[in-house]
Amino acid sequence: MSFEITVRSGGHHFIAEEGELILDAALRQGISFPYGCRSGVCGNCLGTVVAGSVEYPKGLPLSLMEDEQAQGKALFCSAVATSSLEIKVRELESVADIEAKTLPARVVSLRKLSTDVMEMTLKLPETERFQFKAGQYLEFLLRNGKRRAFSIANAPHNNHYLELHLRLVEGGYFTSHVFNEMKEKALVRLHGALGTFFIREDNQTPLILIAGGTGFAPIKSIIEHLIETGDSRDIYFYWGARAKADLYYDALPRKWAAYYKHIHYIPVLSDPQTKDQWQGRTGFVHQAVAEDFKTLSNSAVYMAGPPPMVDAAKTLCHQRGLNDDQIFSDAFDFSQN
Ligand SMILES: Cc1cc2nc3c(=O)[nH]c(=O)nc-3n(C[C@H](O)[C@H](O)[C@H](O)COP(=O)(O)OP(=O)(O)OC[C@H]3O[C@@H](n4cnc5c(N)ncnc54)[C@H](O)[C@@H]3O)c2cc1C
Ligand code: FES
Repeated sequence: MSFEITVRSGGHHFIAEEGELILDAALRQGISFPYGCRSGVCGNCLGTVVAGSVEYPKGLPLSLMEDEQAQGKALFCSAVATSSLEIKVRELESVADIEAKTLPARVVSLRKLSTDVMEMTLKLPETERFQFKAGQYLEFLLRNGKRRAFSIANAPHNNHYLELHLRLVEGGYFTSHVFNEMKEKALVRLHGALGTFFIREDNQTPLILIAGGTGFAPIKSIIEHLIETGDSRDIYFYWGARAKADLYYDALPRKWAAYYKHIHYIPVLSDPQTKDQWQGRTGFVHQAVAEDFKTLSNSAVYMAGPPPMVDAAKTLCHQRGLNDDQIFSDAFDFSQN
């Protein structure tokens, strides 16, 4: 059995399966509920049940007083619906509502995706979750006060772990350590989630997503989030790289494009090698977008990757009539400390 849940304040509806925690159901369907500990302690997910009933499979959470419960208050991280519900909760409207946290994490896997890209998977302590919007990044806090930024590559509904794609920077302080010395099970310190590069969901215009190299990481998070939430806007994903080996996750966007009619994948190589036998698009990735779109005024463009690519793509967007409020970007600059 499943129950329909209506959020009175935002007018959203979603379905909770029998026994499914209400917060889990909301996040799974792309509705941004506030939360912190996910275990009934912090009180961040507190809301009100206006109509219908809930129960707590693990008993009344620590931070919910009996008189609060009597007034209809509920902690949605710990409650399941026992009927259809109408509820009130403060939905997160922007990243300003997400509290950046500093947390320890364990490196559970390090996997080379190409000669110079490492996939790192991180696990947080059991009682902690790292709340983020698809597209945001985190920082590693290093021993000597240095910080290094990396985009989160998985989507928020899957937040029991964090996936990152790190490109090795020649002579780079942190990435050299990751490639040459770091071992699985290492402990790291993180701060985040950060940044305003995240998918806006209040707008149904077609999306043009442009990635250069590991700029694929936040774009992957965004596309996986849109798929999960059933958003069927047209997506044109352009991935620029030098040679075929640098499209280090090529099979995944090919799979999306084969499976979903509204997702289009356009890989573009600037320096294909003879052994690549490349039949696809060549040149700089922003030039491919320019060839395909004579106007961009009816779209939203998201771009991530090396600063020169981001600059060139922004200039193109302006030339093709797009306003700044429909351009979203993360330029992968080096840290200044
Ligand atoms: C918001 C954001 C998100 C990011 N996401 C990702 C991601 O998902 N994946 C990814 O691979 N990268 C990402 N980056 C880039 C990443 O943060 C850097 O590549 C990383 O900080 C390099 O760290 P490092 O310690 O290895 O290199 P550093 O030690 O910082 O620098 C390495 C080299 O760069 C040179 N250098 C340093 N500063 C400059 C400078 N200002 N100009 C020119 N050369 C310089 C140094 O001389 C040295 O040779 C992101 C950056 C930002 C800002
Ligand atoms: S998320 Fe902490 S009490 Fe619900």
